[in-house]
Amino acid sequence: MRKKVVAGNWKMNKSLEEANLLLSEFNSIKKSDNTEIIICMPYPYLFLETPSFVKKGAQNVSEHLRGAYTGEVSAEMLKSMRVEYCIVGHSERRKYFKECDDALYAKVTRLIENEITPIFCIGELLEEREEKKHFHVIKKQMDVLFNLSKDDFKKIMIAYEPVWAIGTGKTASNEEAEEIHHYIRILIEEKYEKATADEILILYGGSCSALNADGLFSMPNIDGGLIGGASLQGADFKAIISAAH
Ligand code: PGA
Repeated sequence: MRKKVVAGNWKMNKSLEEANLLLSEFNSIKKSDNTEIIICMPYPYLFLETPSFVKKGAQNVSEHLRGAYTGEVSAEMLKSMRVEYCIVGHSERRKYFKECDDALYAKVTRLIENEITPIFCIGELLEEREEKKHFHVIKKQMDVLFNLSKDDFKKIMIAYEPVWAIGTGKTASNEEAEEIHHYIRILIEEKYEKATADEILILYGGSCSALNADGLFSMPNIDGGLIGGASLQGADFKAIISAAH
């Protein structure tokens, strides 16, 4: 049985004081043994203490190993900060920072080399869904990962985040999300094999909240969520964690 994952993505929010306050609320989290909790924080907060059952994640990483890349943070540095997960290819990074497939693949590779699990985000734009191109878009985005060996591919987590649902309050229905998650597993099976497709964790992201998490997480191919806005409030995030069991 696959475990459930609830990963918070704080994005560029919270002062140091606010971050500490929110983390202090996590001591009272109740979770099942089968649930993994991750907080993807801004880089400067990665040194903060979290309860041992809350794993640390970053929101980005450099595609380069090390050296003269002012402002960048390497996978090696993240590893030395005990970071275990890192978001790659979030739609905001694809859009605002023009991250292309080659750079995303390099980032995934750097993370795997440093034993950090990439949380690789994919998802279609609203117009792509309206034009019924969403399956095609998902396939193209997954093809980037299919350059990995099977062993390395197994070290990745995927997050399906329809761009039209991110931060909009307009979530995909359980069925719409499940349809894509199921399709992603078919693609993995076609590329590698069924055992690999069955093993990979696929999270849903995009206006996932305390109200809809239960329904989404109960779908057979949805293994948890990547949570933006609702991860910024302790009560909301804890309610989403309770929905993962
Ligand atoms: P949201 O963001 O939950 O605020 O829609 C999700 C994400 O961008 O990862």
